[in-house]
Amino acid sequence: MVATIIDGKKLAKKIKEQVKKEIEEKGLRAKLSLILAGKDEASKVYVRRKHNACEEVGILSDHRFFDERVSEQRLLEEIRKLNTDDSVSGILVQLPLPGQIDVKKVLNIIAPEKDVDGFHPINVGKSSMKQKEGFLPCTPLGILKMLESLKVEIEGKNVVLVGASNIVGKPLGIMLLNQNATITYCNKYTKNLKEHTKKADILIVAVGKPKLITKDMVKEGVIVIDIGMNRTPDGKLVGDVDFDEVKKIALAITPVPGGVGPMTVACLMENTLKAEKQRKGIE
Ligand code: GUN
Repeated sequence: MVATIIDGKKLAKKIKEQVKKEIEEKGLRAKLSLILAGKDEASKVYVRRKHNACEEVGILSDHRFFDERVSEQRLLEEIRKLNTDDSVSGILVQLPLPGQIDVKKVLNIIAPEKDVDGFHPINVGKSSMKQKEGFLPCTPLGILKMLESLKVEIEGKNVVLVGASNIVGKPLGIMLLNQNATITYCNKYTKNLKEHTKKADILIVAVGKPKLITKDMVKEGVIVIDIGMNRTPDGKLVGDVDFDEVKKIALAITPVPGGVGPMTVACLMENTLKAEKQRKGIE
């Protein structure tokens, strides 16, 4: 079997082109405020990519950088200001945050109608209840679009998620449950992981361990979505799946890089456009 390599870059480009077109046609003036606190190198790269994507599609963006030692109060104050700033359509606080800051307080204070990351409890609730005006988190949303591009039926499929974080695995499982899939969540306490992964029609992995998933752990014809982002000692970026081996028996598989990553950024653009349209009562 020759697996389809799901080209996230190409799909992301299409989404961004659609966003750009709609912004131009409707004459919208959307703005995204990006907040980064601390010196996490990967976060700096992600924020830069998000800023560049804004430029590409015609969304204004401002980024606010805070020192590693920024106080929680200072950060909350900044978000409160952005919440009431009429020129701002969407707010994104890049995670992780420095240890002295309570992430829960930060995510809870972002105005739900500007929460383009979809991390606020109100948006988590709305998305789990299929209330469409809420914001779906960008990585899960990007993955749904990748699956959609394969034109496979989700209903009745066995979906196995390895890694159940609040920002990817958990919401994605619920979103696929809403499409009538059968969901298995695995985590670091799961006994005999292979027993579960072998049953997957769709396997989604977000752990952060290179080659966690090997060829013997999947069945022939599986669809594999790899959200892992790991640096090898020689500086190469790899996912959590043994790509070269697993692709020999998979129906479709995402590469790293060029898979899920670009889709997250493209969906952020889509969510920011949605926030602006909702604010202005435009459909
Ligand atoms: N850190 C890792 N992924 C994400 C994301 O999708 N959004 C934010 N804000 N931080 C992240």
